Amino acid sequence: MNQTSSMAWKLGLGGHSYIEQLGNDPRPSFKEQCELVATCLDAGITLLDTTYYQERVALGRVLRELGRREEAEIAAWNFFAHAGREDDLAPWTPYEPQHIDIMLSELQTDRVDLLVIHAEDDEATLHRELDLAASWMHAGKVMRVALGMVEAGHLHSLPEGHPVTHVFAPYNAFNREALSTFSEAKRRGLSNIAMSPFIRGWKLDEIGEDKALVSDILLRWVAAQDMVDRVVVSMRKTEWVHVNVRSVARGPLSEEERARLGVWIDRVG
Ligand SMILES: NC(=O)c1ccc[n+]([C@@H]2O[C@H](COP(=O)([O-])OP(=O)(O)OC[C@H]3O[C@@H](n4cnc5c(N)ncnc54)[C@H](OP(=O)(O)O)[C@@H]3O)[C@@H](O)[C@H]2O)c1
Repeated sequence: MNQTSSMAWKLGLGGHSYIEQLGNDPRPSFKEQCELVATCLDAGITLLDTTYYQERVALGRVLRELGRREEAEIAAWNFFAHAGREDDLAPWTPYEPQHIDIMLSELQTDRVDLLVIHAEDDEATLHRELDLAASWMHAGKVMRVALGMVEAGHLHSLPEGHPVTHVFAPYNAFNREALSTFSEAKRRGLSNIAMSPFIRGWKLDEIGEDKALVSDILLRWVAAQDMVDRVVVSMRKTEWVHVNVRSVARGPLSEEERARLGVWIDRVG
């Protein structure tokens, strides 16, 4: 891996990139989705995150069209279609035995590389989901297991011998709540995946300065932290792929950039 592709590896493509509901622009066409994923894979961004079932369906089609499934690390969460409300972004539900085959069929693949269990406060339910995930690993349908939207308390309730190796949480310059969770996860030898460096892009607009400079500083704030193993960002435009890879490669913020970020946080925090 050369320097730039090892930096690109730190980035993941968010699945909200394929759907209309959580973006500011219309949904990218199928051709644009294919170009986006191909550009990511070419650049060395291999982690492809999917939250809602619509994103799994979109990514499955794209990877089949590109013929590049083997280059991708697919992350998939427990958000499923609800009967009669297929167009909605349905809330998460705990995993049940039938879910893995539904996910594999939507993704048009034989395995999920990183199965994400949305954090669950009820310990008995969480433990049931962990057992299911372990059985899916045993069957070769899941490679690794993560906890998503996690808080430190969830890590304390993990049972002996659990299969979790990664955690996902929103973590950015404006929302640092996950700091203690990520510290605890690191202490336990887990990998941390930070989400939403730009809070759905809203902060880029609110700050109201040169977007290229703002996105560069916000992304580097999170990506350069030792505690952060990877950063998932939504990108609908292929041009952001190279821009963001270059930002990550630039490394930590200078004192001057930190001061500038501090001014933005004081203003729009
Ligand atoms: N937020 C959560 O609570 C949550 C929960 C579960 C999963 N996730 C995962 O995290 C991913 C990312 O989070 P997010 O959706 O909150 O969004 P985000 O990554 O913080 O921001 C995405 C927005 O930033 C814009 N953008 C990206 N790079 C840019 C650049 N270099 N210059 C200017 N604009 C740029 C994109 O614009 P364009 O639209 O123009 O491309 C998009 O609108 C999601 O897709 C999902 O996979 C998040």
